[in-house]
Amino acid sequence: MLESAARRMGEEPGGILAADESIGTMGSRLNDIGITDNPEDPTYRNAWRAVMFGASLRPAVNGVILFEEQLANPKLVNMLTVQGVLPGIKIDQGLAFFAGSDVEQVTLGLDGVEKRLKLYSEQGAAFTKFRSFIHIREGQGMPSDACILANAKVQAGFARASQDSGRVPMVEPEVNMVGEHPIEYCAEVTEQVLRIVFEELDAAGVHLPGMVLKPNMILSGSKAKNRAAPEAVARATVDVLSRVVPDAVPVIAFLSGGQTDEEAYANLSAINLTARAEGHPWRLTYSFGRAAQKGALNVWRGSPYSVQAARARFVELLAEMSAASMGAYPTVAV
Ligand code: G3H
Repeated sequence: MLESAARRMGEEPGGILAADESIGTMGSRLNDIGITDNPEDPTYRNAWRAVMFGASLRPAVNGVILFEEQLANPKLVNMLTVQGVLPGIKIDQGLAFFAGSDVEQVTLGLDGVEKRLKLYSEQGAAFTKFRSFIHIREGQGMPSDACILANAKVQAGFARASQDSGRVPMVEPEVNMVGEHPIEYCAEVTEQVLRIVFEELDAAGVHLPGMVLKPNMILSGSKAKNRAAPEAVARATVDVLSRVVPDAVPVIAFLSGGQTDEEAYANLSAINLTARAEGHPWRLTYSFGRAAQKGALNVWRGSPYSVQAARARFVELLAEMSAASMGAYPTVAV
């Protein structure tokens, strides 16, 4: 059952929509479009989710990652399940500074996770997501080996608990793209991070065909000069994945990590072209948050009069993401 659910999450021509922003993160996204969000009142946060979930999501969206405030809302969950879309849940609970560092962080949320998994299962979650966040500071010893290992152990514990509860874990060891580093350093760090994650998953007895990997693409730092083009991103990403990700993992669904939508789609498309030409076994798709939502959020801006236009824009973006997940972005108008 875990295996078929994992494959379903990546089923062509779709992927995963990440709509799991915490209350604070969603508040700042809403502030960016001129809405003052109140942490005590979910009205706007839910309204934006209802705009997205009321659009025609299939076949581009196989599953949606929710935050617990939205998973607890049966009306929103129902908007997904009536369309045959799997609800998922972000299960990590924030970040703490690691071992005295004021930069490096380790993800919280493993304590008491079994109890929460039981609740999320009752609320209809079919899969879970746990994100760790690895900071790059080239030349300053970051990330440190100790921080990489600590995060990998938490990831493995979470993945095992999730599988024990019958939920597919999305394992998300994100290497942050912020920095001036070249693409080669992102490749080196990501390869090390993924290698340690898979060692810890193995040690924890995680069943690889019943999980989804959610990695970063291999990119130049966001502030680097001469940032790598999609063909170079694809080459580096496929090289790293083929060295460290076992063939038994059925689905790799990339995060967008602060890329623009065009950048994320072009890179995903190039990654697919390269991997398909070389016969790699995984389904390579998206689990985008910002790169899926931003264009439509900017159309909506909180107005009931712009719901239809925002949904129309969202559906266009989903179609472009879907094309990218098959190596066919940009789509050529006929
Ligand atoms: O954990 C992060 C989200 O699920 C993905 O968001 O695509 O904006 O990086 P992003």
